[in-house]
Amino acid sequence: MVSGQPYSNLKLQSFVRHALSLSVAVAFVLLTGCNPKTAAPPAPTAQKTAEIPHFVKKNGRNAFIVDGTPYLLLGSQANNSSNYPAALPKVWRGVEMLGANTLEIPVAWEQIEPTEGHFDFSYVDTLLAQAREHHVRLVLLWFGTWKNTNPNYTPEWVKLNNDRFPRMLDAKGNKVYALSPHYRSTLDADSKAFAKFMGHLKDADPQRTVILVQVENETGTYGCVRDYSPVAQKLFDGPVPGQLVAGMHKKPGTWKQVFGKDADEFFHAWYISTYVEKVAEAGKAVYPLPMYVNAWLRDPYNYQAPTTYAAGGPTWNVLDIWKIGAPSLALAAPDIYGHTYANIMGQIDRYHRPDNPLMIVEIGNEKLFARVFFSVLGNQGLGFSPFGFDFTGYSNYPLGAKKVDAEAIEPFAQNFRILAPMAREWAKISFENNVWGTSEPDDQRPQTIALGRWTATISYGQWQLSEMHVGFKGEGKPPGTENPSGGALIAELGPDEYLVIAQRARVAFALTDPKSKLKSMFNRVEEGHYENGKWVFERVWNGDETDHGLNFTTLPQVLRVKLATY
Ligand code: DGJ
Repeated sequence: MVSGQPYSNLKLQSFVRHALSLSVAVAFVLLTGCNPKTAAPPAPTAQKTAEIPHFVKKNGRNAFIVDGTPYLLLGSQANNSSNYPAALPKVWRGVEMLGANTLEIPVAWEQIEPTEGHFDFSYVDTLLAQAREHHVRLVLLWFGTWKNTNPNYTPEWVKLNNDRFPRMLDAKGNKVYALSPHYRSTLDADSKAFAKFMGHLKDADPQRTVILVQVENETGTYGCVRDYSPVAQKLFDGPVPGQLVAGMHKKPGTWKQVFGKDADEFFHAWYISTYVEKVAEAGKAVYPLPMYVNAWLRDPYNYQAPTTYAAGGPTWNVLDIWKIGAPSLALAAPDIYGHTYANIMGQIDRYHRPDNPLMIVEIGNEKLFARVFFSVLGNQGLGFSPFGFDFTGYSNYPLGAKKVDAEAIEPFAQNFRILAPMAREWAKISFENNVWGTSEPDDQRPQTIALGRWTATISYGQWQLSEMHVGFKGEGKPPGTENPSGGALIAELGPDEYLVIAQRARVAFALTDPKSKLKSMFNRVEEGHYENGKWVFERVWNGDETDHGLNFTTLPQVLRVKLATY
């Protein structure tokens, strides 16, 4: 077992040193060796248990199955320090105002194991009971070894004991704030606590109020690309583990030989991902709820020095490593806080991969982010959850809104109001049909979406009737459309038939083929809603309502559109 003792402080006789390095090697075989298969799900025990939520994939599409059917996670992530019973009433107020069906909230290692080996799950029990009263599901965020890369949520007996739980060393041998991923002592302590927590959930939650668990929070290290301690250096100078070499289709060699200039960061990503995998495995062996990780992001397109983001965490450039290192995880999710359209869309693009279902478990709560909802769902996203809509008195401006109040929540609530009543239907449609979606770009220009035979044009900032370019100009722009705030979502229901949902946008359709002699028209546009999986007709849109495209305001309107030609 690797002790927490830094080598440099040990004045060991050579045979002791030899024994120690041998045990280091053994420990790291344990840490990095072939991943033992996750234990088969234990058979449900005594009480009547609901099916365990899980992710499925079919025809290249993903679904998050909860209670046996696809689930759309309309989430609200609580602030970091809202994880105590006293704060919960202020949390529920935000959840209600937003109209979320899921609350994401931390469970901190420091609160469940304040003294080593002694566990307190009273907060978890209160949370479970209150979530059920509110008819809201939970995603629990395990704040352990890493929380925004640092160990602040570890118990005192961990964070104050740097000998047993060593921090990383930088290239000059100075202590770094983050815990090293290279010590069995730290991994074992985190895994034990996490497994206890999962065991408690298994017993306390046969209803599956908790549907998903985040393992750690934004792993990696800021300002230092990897651990340079002797323990780490020895591994770095050694061969890249076979599992990674094979998975990345590389030839064997040392980290430098195999990965060149990326060696430091890839090394860190490998050891953090395999560490997180072990923590997840320990929890899943007890109770196999689906699990995921979230990422402090790297620029989606431009080079960024690894010291300027959470290096080693699941950033897009090391997602392949994470997929090999942590196969038990259902997905890696980007925490979206970039304020430009290009950056946001870039992150969505990077994390929407065949092997990585798109789920936005954390996005800023400044109103510019509300419209991103349409791009996320249009990219087959399984969930969307703004961060920090609770009334505990904290706002993370300038990342998010200046003030958390009803006005800040409203743009997000508007979107949830449309999708919440049809969340199950949408999740099913998105799993089985083609879906597209977009949100208003920063330059507010119209966008086109190629649907196949048809092309949809989405334009913004227009009055419902007048065409801006034909003389009868409405004065200025409709209130609320001055800044980018619109979006549209389209699903294919059948040939020439689409479900259309939008906010502050005009949606028009035309035949894609420019040479076609045919002209396009609306055959029928129905407004309605879903009830128990069935479409319920309310009225037909015609005349003004369709002569200038389909014009959406902030009302929660859902249309079924049949297109035709003449
Ligand atoms: C991302 C983290 O995951 C959150 O817990 C929080 O710290 C935000 N950053 C900033 O408010």
